[in-house]
Amino acid sequence: MEIIENIASMHALSERKRMEGKLIGFVPTMGFLHEGHLSLIREAKKLSDMVIVSIFVNPTQFKPNEDYDKYPRDLEGDTKKVNSAGGDIIFAPSARDMYPDGYLTYVNVEGITETLCGISRPGHFRGVTTVVTKLFNIVKPHKAFFGQKDYQQSVIIKKMVRDLNMDIDIILLPTVREHDGLAMSSRNSFLSTEERKVAPVLYRALIMASEMVKNGEKNTRKIYSEMKRMIENESLVVIDYIAITDPENLRDISVIEGKTLIALAVRIGDTRLIDNILTEPQGS
Ligand code: PAF
Repeated sequence: MEIIENIASMHALSERKRMEGKLIGFVPTMGFLHEGHLSLIREAKKLSDMVIVSIFVNPTQFKPNEDYDKYPRDLEGDTKKVNSAGGDIIFAPSARDMYPDGYLTYVNVEGITETLCGISRPGHFRGVTTVVTKLFNIVKPHKAFFGQKDYQQSVIIKKMVRDLNMDIDIILLPTVREHDGLAMSSRNSFLSTEERKVAPVLYRALIMASEMVKNGEKNTRKIYSEMKRMIENESLVVIDYIAITDPENLRDISVIEGKTLIALAVRIGDTRLIDNILTEPQGS
């Protein structure tokens, strides 16, 4: 397995593979890989001839007071994991090469970036869409794989790909969870033992909400209150948002009629965690 750090070399390799008729699958990551990333790599391997995994902690998607500097990094460990999951190439550029002095260009999807996580992380998705566009241009994939844990991100990227006529299939795969339901995330490594114990409340609240929907509850205010009550019962957990929305346009809904996204973000100590579930009334 090869690690490519240079943008021109990555460009050249992808171009050559395309000329050979190879189907390129791409898994963009910020590294510190866990089973969630590895499941994307394995699926990419099934659906493509070669799998490129990018490892790049993207500075433009962090606000100045966020955890860019302390975001966990482990290229050596990641290399072994990518290899074991069947990845072929790691693309690991430097921040200086991706954003050289004088860098001025950003990609912005409007509207759907300003809700849910966009409220407490203004500018975050502009950083994501910018780096994903750059990575797509460098890696030239046919298919790109993302996890459902970052559901809003996937909706935004799909919209960007459609609006900008990018010829790339975006494939969304299910969230991979720990044995107690906590969604896998590189940020889980920040949790203390006490914090880790309470973290599964996110998934418990989502499951409870989904059961309410399946059992015919249509009033989103009631679902919201029950989730809030359950989460606030855990003293270490502070709610950022709980949202019950249309999964396509991410607009809040007040009466549930069909497919629904229930998403939330919380802070546990210094760590911000997100999770979500897609649900719908039984028989709809
Ligand atoms: O989901 C992530 O890990 C990041 O937002 C991504 C897509 C790799 C862009 O930096």
